[in-house]
Amino acid sequence: MKLLLAPLALSLTIAAASAPAAKPSPKPAASRPEAGGRNLKVLKGWSHERIDSAMGFFAASLGVGCDHCHVRTADRKWDMASDEMPEKATARRMIEMTRALNEKWFAGGPRVTCATCHDGRAEPGRVPPVDAVVAGAERERAKPAQPAEKPTVAELLRRYVEASGGEAAWKAASSRVERGTVVHANRRGEETSKQVNARRAPASLDQRMSRDGKELQRVWTDGASAWFGREGRSEPLEADSAVSFKRDATFALPLALAARGDLKLDGREKFHGGDAWVVTGHPDDKTKERWFFGDDGQLRAVYRESDSEFGPMPEMIRFEDYRPVGALKLPFVIRASDPWDRATVTFEEITLDEPVAAGAFAPPPPEPAETH
Ligand code: HEC
Ligand code: HEC
Repeated sequence: MKLLLAPLALSLTIAAASAPAAKPSPKPAASRPEAGGRNLKVLKGWSHERIDSAMGFFAASLGVGCDHCHVRTADRKWDMASDEMPEKATARRMIEMTRALNEKWFAGGPRVTCATCHDGRAEPGRVPPVDAVVAGAERERAKPAQPAEKPTVAELLRRYVEASGGEAAWKAASSRVERGTVVHANRRGEETSKQVNARRAPASLDQRMSRDGKELQRVWTDGASAWFGREGRSEPLEADSAVSFKRDATFALPLALAARGDLKLDGREKFHGGDAWVVTGHPDDKTKERWFFGDDGQLRAVYRESDSEFGPMPEMIRFEDYRPVGALKLPFVIRASDPWDRATVTFEEITLDEPVAAGAFAPPPPEPAETH
């Protein structure tokens, strides 16, 4: 949900791509009033969090920025409540139409979403794609033969534990520090920053982003709660961001996956130049996952869809360039994409059991009382 923060004066586009499972840009639970807007006609009574999530979904579904439906004032501030843009009025009708379609034809939905028709374009097509037959044939070819002998999920997860260093090595490691460079590419261009992730088992993570030696932001969790800090201020991460950031903080991902009970084998698929075994999962009732494992046993990618009010939001995280770090083998390149942003993290260095400052993951100190 990174793009929608920028216009809300927080500009968090440069955020967190982290290993082993990166989700760029967590979002602080802004200390805003409960009602999400001053001029809500079809999303009446919605909180900021729900509005943000819906707006992100609209923008991603249409392949546009916030400026497609919203205007700025003369001093470049966003005026989201303004009804000046005709597209905003159209969007209101579209919201009502989509709701009506789902209610009448799809038992409530969301089966039909903005993405069903728009598919990344502001103007949906009317003509069937002329290359559909060709594309269909290619998809078939891309599906490798399914071997008669299939590994079990337990076998694939065991191979992953082995390939990444083995259970004993994972259990012996208690902390690691990753230092690298993140390149974010989105509709506004490319941004490069430095990232340092300090991690401690089982699920603490302190992630700092900086540019030209100046800290831009910090996101951290002690495994229970998660916070966002910028320019000396900090706040708790909002619910959705906290869930995904805490998930990404899992120290020993191979062991954590092996301990899960919800994973099922899907089959074999072509995946970026090599075949992969695909395992599906449902970590909670809002999230669907597909885990891709290479023939060397290593995790090559995870694809997630998280339900939002208007439909599922996708993200894909790829893991590349596995190298030895002590007794472990870890990815040195991580590529995370979602509809707004592609982030590539390249670690220059990963160290194990480097002392991590005491208190690195502690909750922020209470805010000093405001003085005026
Ligand atoms: C496709 C059109 C569309 C796009 C793109 C869009 N919005 Fe909206 N936005 C709307 C509509 C329609 C409403 C009013 C909803 C209602 O009437 O209940 C709205 C309302 C809002 C509001 C509440 C304003 C108020 O005070 O009433 C905010 C905040 C907002 N949008 C933020 C964003 C942000 C941030 C983005 C970019 C990520 C964005 N919007 C992208 C259509 C859009
Ligand atoms: C059933 C298909 C369908 C669904 C679902 C749908 N749209 Fe549309 N939308 C259209 C069509 C068709 C047009 C073009 C209308 C025209 O040409 O007059 C359009 C046009 C628009 C436009 C104006 C075109 C532009 O240039 O921006 C906006 C904004 C828009 N839709 C937003 C949304 C949003 C937001 C959602 C989800 C809440 C949504 N639509 C869901 C079919 C759909």
